[in-house]
Amino acid sequence: MKFSIAAAALAVATVASAQIQLSDPTEGTVWTTGLAQYIRWTGNCASMGAAAKAVKVDIVNGPSGNVKYVADLGTIDCSSPTNTSTNLVVPSKNNNGPIPSGSYALRVNTDPIQYTTNFIINNPDAPSGGATAAPTSTGAPQPSTKPSSANALAAGSALAVAVLAVAQLVL
Ligand SMILES: *[C@@H]1O[C@H](CO)[C@@H](O)[C@H](O)[C@H]1NC(C)=O
Repeated sequence: MKFSIAAAALAVATVASAQIQLSDPTEGTVWTTGLAQYIRWTGNCASMGAAAKAVKVDIVNGPSGNVKYVADLGTIDCSSPTNTSTNLVVPSKNNNGPIPSGSYALRVNTDPIQYTTNFIINNPDAPSGGATAAPTSTGAPQPSTKPSSANALAAGSALAVAVLAVAQLVL
């Protein structure tokens, strides 16, 4: 039985390794649109295979549970265990016009999806008093702690793999 438990633990660890943690931008970060900005993460997403070299990063906002896409930021290569940072230029507008200054987060389309904490984007080209910025008076939205369906899905697959591993050893 010891071997079965070890195999199950290994299967879970393997699936979890697709996850990276965004360490920049942080909560106090202010990004100005039109400029290259620093993104950093820990871990790597090499288990995504070829897709790891160009993982899409979106600018999002809104409260946890109702996160809205705002604009594409670009892609990151999180396949490497050593190069865990890059610079991406923050767009000043999307299809709806200038992106209002305000509170935003990043959504990184790894498997499972990762979110940064909220940080500030300052857009000198946007009219001031943008009404569509994320609400801050009702408490900071926490997209990073959002229980996403992707997380649940990954946990489900990990369990399935683990059960399979145990079953194979028992049979
Ligand atoms: C790390 O990778 C990025 C592209 O993802 C590249 O722009 C940057 O120059 C690389 N840094 C180093 C130190 O190789």
